[in-house]
Parts: sequence; structure tokens; C-alpha cells
Amino acid sequence: MSKLKTADDFVLPDKIAELSDTQAGEILAELSELIAEYDRLYHSTPEADEAILPDAEYDRLVQLNMAIEASFPHLVQAQSPSTRVGFEPSEQFDKIEHALPMLSLDNAFSASDVDEFEKKIRRFLALQDSDEIAFTAEPKIDGLSLSLRYENGTLVSGATRGDGTIGEDITANVKTISDIPHHLPDAVKDKIIEIRGEVYMARSDFDALNAMQAEIGGKQFANPRNAAAGSLRQKDPEITKARPLRFFAYAPGFMSDEIVTSHSAFLEFAKQCGFSVNALSQTCQSVDALITHYEAIAATRATLDYEIDGVVYKVDRYDYQRRLGQVSRAPRWAIAHKFPAEQAVTKLLGIDIQVGRTGALTPVARLAPVKVGGVTVSNATLHNEDEIRRKDIRIGDQIILQRAGDVIPQIVRVIEDARDGTQTPFIFPETCPVCARPAARPEGEAVRRCTGGFSCEAQAVERLKHFVSRNAFDIDGLGDKQIEQFYQRGWVKRPSDIFRLPQMREDIAALAGMGDKSADNLIAAINQRTQIELSRFIFALGIKQIGEATAKLLAFQYPDITSLLQLGIEGKDKTADAYLELINIDQIGSLVASDLLSFLADDENIAELKRLDEMLTLEPPQAPQQNSPLSGKIIVFTGTLQQMSRNEAKAQAERLGARVSGSVSSKTDFVVAGADAGSKAAKAEALGLRILSEAEYQEMITA
Ligand code: IVH
Repeated sequence: MSKLKTADDFVLPDKIAELSDTQAGEILAELSELIAEYDRLYHSTPEADEAILPDAEYDRLVQLNMAIEASFPHLVQAQSPSTRVGFEPSEQFDKIEHALPMLSLDNAFSASDVDEFEKKIRRFLALQDSDEIAFTAEPKIDGLSLSLRYENGTLVSGATRGDGTIGEDITANVKTISDIPHHLPDAVKDKIIEIRGEVYMARSDFDALNAMQAEIGGKQFANPRNAAAGSLRQKDPEITKARPLRFFAYAPGFMSDEIVTSHSAFLEFAKQCGFSVNALSQTCQSVDALITHYEAIAATRATLDYEIDGVVYKVDRYDYQRRLGQVSRAPRWAIAHKFPAEQAVTKLLGIDIQVGRTGALTPVARLAPVKVGGVTVSNATLHNEDEIRRKDIRIGDQIILQRAGDVIPQIVRVIEDARDGTQTPFIFPETCPVCARPAARPEGEAVRRCTGGFSCEAQAVERLKHFVSRNAFDIDGLGDKQIEQFYQRGWVKRPSDIFRLPQMREDIAALAGMGDKSADNLIAAINQRTQIELSRFIFALGIKQIGEATAKLLAFQYPDITSLLQLGIEGKDKTADAYLELINIDQIGSLVASDLLSFLADDENIAELKRLDEMLTLEPPQAPQQNSPLSGKIIVFTGTLQQMSRNEAKAQAERLGARVSGSVSSKTDFVVAGADAGSKAAKAEALGLRILSEAEYQEMITA
């Protein structure tokens, strides 16, 4: 394919009206070719490792095509993308002509698109404002559509959508999917019944499949949809059988009799026939109710064990559906309300280097602002210099950006086809961009670090921000902004300076945006924190590799600052008991030990620890109960607990000697699953771990 184009390369939506007939005709012809090319790539290479173009960019091309056609109806070609569905069936399979065409869906991207959809339907059906109209709202499953035909109560064929009229005969493969009944109940034995729905792969099954593929040296699938497509369109049904495919029924195809008269009744009927029907389907009586349900589905999306990319709204009454009919490839009675795109294409404008708390130089991509996953993104992390080289990322590149939920936006890859020679490679600096001291990259490490320590302003400020952060000292009213401001004024250069701020009440109150009340509150918050758990204190120091969990372990072993300083002196000798005691602590290896010891060997750090020791009262942890059923166990809580909050459960388990982890791994001893436990419980199951209900867990710890 030549240079990859996106909708913006053709014409902006608000400029369509200004196009001449010739220009519009040329754009339509080019769009038609481009969309056909994407369709071909998408449908013929289902196992391709990477999506050719993010779905959302593809949708924008189709939208643009429709918008131009709407303004220039006389230019619509017979072969327009708006009249095609999917792609021609592959030669690999026999063909099946669908008794009724398999349609596609129009998309809605906003609440006002949905409003428009409902209004059009009301107009078309000539309904009064007072007439009620019911819709069903159900998740749009990200898989492949399938049409199943039953004659005399028996499954006779299964076909892919193909081009909408003719599909591929994959009957033998379909029969291996356990969600698909081979026979229907006796009550409908004398009828011809077609059931349509989506074949998909559960996320947990996909993870397990890829893990297995890795073990046997097989290829990795890019995502569950690709894995499902690759598994379903196999010549050998035995391969399909070995793949964990599932099926949701969502619509009737051809029916010899009118068995049901509404979509909600169809879903009930399908359930009775033994099909899985999505549990999140709901009947709604208004646009507001549709949007509310859309938002509810969007909110649970991340916890579902299958991928969805929107919500489909369907007019419930079949007599209405028949009257509404279809326009070219899509029914008038249904629409897919898509979730905001999680991938988008944009331009890399530059790369900034940020200096973190431990001196790490992190490259951050500056991007032309683009909307992804519902928010505008203009930065993305690039991790380290190897990542830039590995992905061959150059300034000026067109890149594919990805963002999912709360995850930090990432650059998936560069679009190499879009290069025009003006892109320039990035040269990673070997000095700190903030303090200009050398930035060193030790052998075998991915990260380059500034050697400036506390004398580097960036490191000092980041360490101070960490010191007061939520899981460390958590001082109300002392956020990033205040730290920067106090640092600039020279009031706070190191952590101990924070506890001298109460002596500067007048200066603080005089600051813009502060005042007496805020100053008093801040001082009270600081004073309150002069007594604090030792583990929080150790974590607050921001020592490399020492997170909350390790800080807790250290606090058990070293009950005060004096014993930490003692460790610093005695631990230098690797044969000394002090050193051996340190690396004997579970989870602390020689690398963590080395970072801790080099922190404790630094004169500036020693002086600071002594200053802090005089100002603070540190509380050593309570010794955990020795012979509790939890001692030494690694446990994970997931889902909603009824008896207590997750935080309380965590604290209780830790008191009983357990280590509470946020993620499931083979090291986990057991998982406590509350209500609506999602992917973690599924992963635990896949790993064969012990899963306890909340009640079973309570019983275990009170026994
Ligand atoms: S109804 C005429 N319902 O989306 C309406 N489709 O872009 C036929 N899809 O080809 C489709 N979940 O593969 C419908 N709950 C759902 C769906 C769904 C996923 C897929 C289906 C269809 C495509 C349309």
C-alpha cells in the first residue's frame, strides 16, 4: 500500500460543502479504493500481528465517505463502500448464499447521534411524541459474525458473513464450538430457524492460548478477535476444536414461521434453545435510558472477560423493524454506539527528557493533540532509549497511539509508509538536561541516570514530591505545586526542611493564594505527621527499588533509624552478619540490598536521616501473628467484599502475617474473590490457584 492516509488527509468535514463536483468525485474514488484495500487486508489476514489501521481511523474514513455522498448524492458509485459489506469469501471454503443478507451497522459516536437515530425512526414510523417506542441495548461484541441454520431441529450449516450475501461454509468448524447447540427443542423441530451471533474468544482464554503458544513455540495472536478469526477459519476442524471459542446469539436470520414478534422475545427464545445470550442486554424506553445503559456497560467494560467496542441499540418490535427496513448495507432499526477510540493516529512533534526522583532520564513523546479513549492526549511515555531505537521512532513520524482506561498512553508503532524523508532520528542525551551533569548508563541497565543526586534540582524536587505523596507522608495541602514553589524560594531543599515550615507561618500565609487559614491548616497537617509509621517513613525516602511492600519488610527488621544507620555501616562487609541478615529477608535480593546500602553510605543521606530522627517519632510495626493460617502466605483480593473494605481486609491480612499482592501470579497462595470478581479470578482459575469466597476466607481466619 502506498502512503497510509487517514480521513484528515482528504478533507475536513466542515469543508465538504466547498468541494467542487470534480474534487468530490476524486475523493470518493480514492476513498472507495482505500476502504476496499483495508477491507481486503482486514478480512484476509485475520491472524496478522497488528491491526492494519486502528478501527476508529477506519470508521472515520467510512464516515467521511458517507458525509461526502450525502452532499453529492449524484456521485455515489455502484461500488461505493457504503453499499459493500465485509469482503468476498475466501476460495479456501465452499460458499453459502445467505437466505437473508447479513447486514452491517451504522455507527453513532455521541449522544446526539443517538438522539438523531431515535428521531429519524419516529419520523419514519410517523409516531406521535406520546407514542412509546422500546429499544434493546446490548454490548457490541468484538468478534466475528456467524449465521447458523437449523432444519428439522438439527444444525445443518454455519457460515461467515463474507460479503453479506455469500459467506464461507465453516459448518464443520462451527460444530466444535461448545456454546452452539447441535439440536433445537422439539417445539420448533418442524421449522427452519436461522440464528445469528458473534463468535469470540474470552480474554482469559486468549491469554492462556498465547501462553501455551509461547510454550510450544507457536505464533502469538495480536488480540482476542484475531485469535478467534484465525481459529474459526481453519481448514482443519480439529484445530478449531482445540481453540476456546464461544458464541453469543444476537439476532434471527431467516425464519420459516414468525416464532417471536420482538427482539427481547427473540433473546428469551434463543436462551431456551440453549444459546448463550449476553446478560447485559436491556430493554429501554427512551434515549436517556439508552445512554444510561451505555454508560453502565462502558463502566464495566474493563472487568468483562470478553472485548466489546460499543453498545448496539435495536428497535424491539419486529413489525417496526420490518417497516423500517434498510438503507444500502445497514438496517434503519439498529445502530452501534461506539466507545471512544482507544487508538488513534497522530504526529510525533518532539521528545522531551524528564528527570525522575532516582535520576532516571525518561523520554516523553510530545504529540499533536488527538482524542483517544474520550480524552485529548498530547504526551505519551517512551520508557527508555532502547524503546525508541527498537521501535525506530523518529521526530516527525506518524504514529499509532494507544490508550486503554487509566493506562498511560503509549506509542504502539510508527507508520513507516507515511515517512517522507523529513523525519529525524532522536539522539539520546548523555548529560542531565536539568543540571548538565553526566548521565550514566551502567552495563546491562536500560535506564540512563543523572549522577547529580540531591544537587540536581529535578531529582531533589521529585524526591520531595514523593516524600509527601499519599502513601508516604501524605501531608494535606502540600502537593506538587507547593513543593515546587517552596523549593524555588529555597524554603524546602530537603525533607527535614518540611518540618521547619511551621516556623515560617507568616511567610507562608503571605504567599499568593494562601492566607492565614490555609497556612494554619498546612502547619497543623505537618505537625500531625511528625508521628508516623516507620514503614511509611522508609518508603518516603524514595530509595531505588524500595516500594511500600519492601519498606514494610525492612521496618520489621530495623525498628528505628539508628538500626538502619547501623546496617549502613556494618552491611558494607558482605560477609558480615548484618549483610546476611539483610539479604535473608524474604523478597530482598542482592540488587535491592545494594541500592539500600549505597543510599545508607552517602554522607548527605546519613546527615539527613539524623536530622529527621530528631524531628520525628517513628512507630515500628506490630509484630504479625506467628501461627495464623495466613502467615507467610501471598494473597490477592479481587471483586467487591461485603464484610469490609478492600483496605481494611488488606490491613487485617497483613496483621495476620500475609503479604497482600495486587496481581495474580503463580506465586500467589490463594485469591479471595468478592462479588463481580473479574479478570483476576479468571486468571487464578487458569493458573489452578485456590479461590476462596469471602465467607470461606472469613471462616479460615477465624478458625
Ligand atoms: S446486530 C442487522 N448485535 O457488529 C444487525 N451485531 O457492524 C445485525 N455485532 O456484523 C447485527 N455484537 O458482527 C448485532 N449485539 C450485536 C452485535 C453485533 C457485535 C457485530 C456483528 C455485525 C457487526 C456490525
